[in-house]
Amino acid sequence: MQPKLAAKAVCSNGEIGKVSKVIMDPISHEVSHVVVQENARQKLDRAIPIGEVQEIVSEEEIVLKCSVSEFVQFPLLNRDHYVTTHEVEIAHLEDNIHVTPGEVLVPLPCLERDVPRRTFFNNMTHAIGALIALPLAFPVLKYLMKPMYKPFDNAWFSVGNEKKITKENIGFQFKFTRGFKEAFMPEQQIEKNIWIVRATPEVKKEVYSGKDRKFYDNKGDLLWVNKANSPLIGFSGKCPHLGCGYKWRRTKSNPDGVFICPCHLSLYDESGKVIDGPAPRGLDILPLEVNAAGEIRIIDVEYKAGVKDQIRLL
Ligand code: FES
Repeated sequence: MQPKLAAKAVCSNGEIGKVSKVIMDPISHEVSHVVVQENARQKLDRAIPIGEVQEIVSEEEIVLKCSVSEFVQFPLLNRDHYVTTHEVEIAHLEDNIHVTPGEVLVPLPCLERDVPRRTFFNNMTHAIGALIALPLAFPVLKYLMKPMYKPFDNAWFSVGNEKKITKENIGFQFKFTRGFKEAFMPEQQIEKNIWIVRATPEVKKEVYSGKDRKFYDNKGDLLWVNKANSPLIGFSGKCPHLGCGYKWRRTKSNPDGVFICPCHLSLYDESGKVIDGPAPRGLDILPLEVNAAGEIRIIDVEYKAGVKDQIRLL
């Protein structure tokens, strides 16, 4: 005979409460404990081992071996350490149990007890997902992170002879090609350009304020110095707003010419200073040297577009 839920629980010296749940042993498929809810004391549930049940008088009443004072020594039921038989599928578990209606509990494995059940399964799902995704994500992560750790390319490029620049304070464009390799693709040759101005003393002063311009590599070592008295000033061919190519053009209000970017109409004067439009900073000055024969070489430094400060990318 098995007790019904809500059957009266009686100690050796008096009634104590009622059966509120039954705990099954998932291995033996037998009832291992009855859970007795005290009538007094905030209706606390205590799990009583089945060996402490002296007699199942009827489906309506059980008698415990202990006294009332001994009963309260049994541990309180920690509900988080159990699941109901609705939550787990254990074959034939309910063949030996006739408790109806109600909640039949089975204990959780010890490892799962400190983790809320839903969290445990969520964490497992995420962990398995991460393990599956890692080999797939690795090449993508490597590709995305590579530019962060790649040393700057400080190669010098010959762009042409300074004799081509015949007028002062006028932008002159030089084109050059450089190799560019992206991730696993073969290296490509891309065409780039630089605008160079033969600057008057006033423009040099505007650009350099009498101080040499220093360039550094990504270890912080000095790479090159543009002398403040050098007449040639080279500007990166990319607009600092969003990276478009710009041109030197005469306009009505600037008959001698200005640098004008067709994308969002930023205007820059011959010193590279922004005179109109959305550009957040002036044109980017590049390291530039001229040899005795007048051949110009530059380092094709690239800075991040769209921000006020110069942040070197390449
Ligand atoms: S990209 Fe040149 S103004 Fe926007």
